[in-house]
Amino acid sequence: MKERIKQLVKEKNAIILAHNYQPPEIQDIADLCGDSLELSIKASKTDADIIVFCGVHFMAETAVILCPEKTVLLPNLDAGCPMANMVNPMALNEKKIQLGNIPVITYVNSSAAVKAASDICCTSANVIDVVNSIDAKEILMTPDKNLAQYAAANTSKKIHLWDGYCPFHNTLTPKDVIQAKKDHPGALFIAHPECPPDILSLSDSIQSTSGMIKFAGNSDHSSFILGTETGLLYPISKACPEKKFYAASKKMYCPDMKKITLENIKDSLENLNGKIIVPEEIRKDALGAVKKMIDL
Ligand code: 13P
Ligand code: SF4
Repeated sequence: MKERIKQLVKEKNAIILAHNYQPPEIQDIADLCGDSLELSIKASKTDADIIVFCGVHFMAETAVILCPEKTVLLPNLDAGCPMANMVNPMALNEKKIQLGNIPVITYVNSSAAVKAASDICCTSANVIDVVNSIDAKEILMTPDKNLAQYAAANTSKKIHLWDGYCPFHNTLTPKDVIQAKKDHPGALFIAHPECPPDILSLSDSIQSTSGMIKFAGNSDHSSFILGTETGLLYPISKACPEKKFYAASKKMYCPDMKKITLENIKDSLENLNGKIIVPEEIRKDALGAVKKMIDL
């Protein structure tokens, strides 16, 4: 299967991008693995004609927003992000009016239509820089309330929250973290900013998924507890084979991130299944918000 995929990638001038939470066999055949920011930057720069996006729907949609001339395939169209469905453009526009049209920062974990109704996007890797780039004292952030609270704690802006969250990062409790620290004495605890504030306050560092890999690689410590989706254990252990990594909780498992299989990728490349389409009027507006983030 892997050989056939490699052959199709070459024949069709395709590139395979995979998020850090994807299953190991998918990360192994990808041309690039990374966090949401790295994958969007790569998508915006590739010369490939086809981008096979192994991640969830909003990630592939972001690639279409940036590269409308390319074919972007999500090999399993059922792979979505529950947090992205916690905001829609109508509700966002109502809230904007209520708040007097203050600027809106939208996490990339959102639909193209929500991005189109926003001023700028952010990812977990650049949220503080994005917030600081806004020339206003008050901002509305969607959809992740935890990411927004993290930004509020690290900038001087008043940030209005949207009541969205990642169902997996949001389930981590202080009790889980305290137990993991007891089980792995001396390990540093690295948390993703999608975790709630009481978890972030127990952390030694707060990082995006690729930020965690870099942090562990540069650290003098030899063991780490990861406050993020358990799929990260694979690329981080591969990048730092001499170090030990532990999941803060087995509850942090995102089934959508595991929906794409090698067979889906092969079928998708053979038949161009899973093509992502974004209506042009939405794409143009969403591009403004995504492009501002990438330029920054
Ligand atoms: P990163 O951008 O940090 O990889 O996070 C994406 C995501 O969906 C986290 O749950
Ligand atoms: Fe969405 Fe959470 Fe899954 Fe990331 S881990 S894709 S935020 S549901």
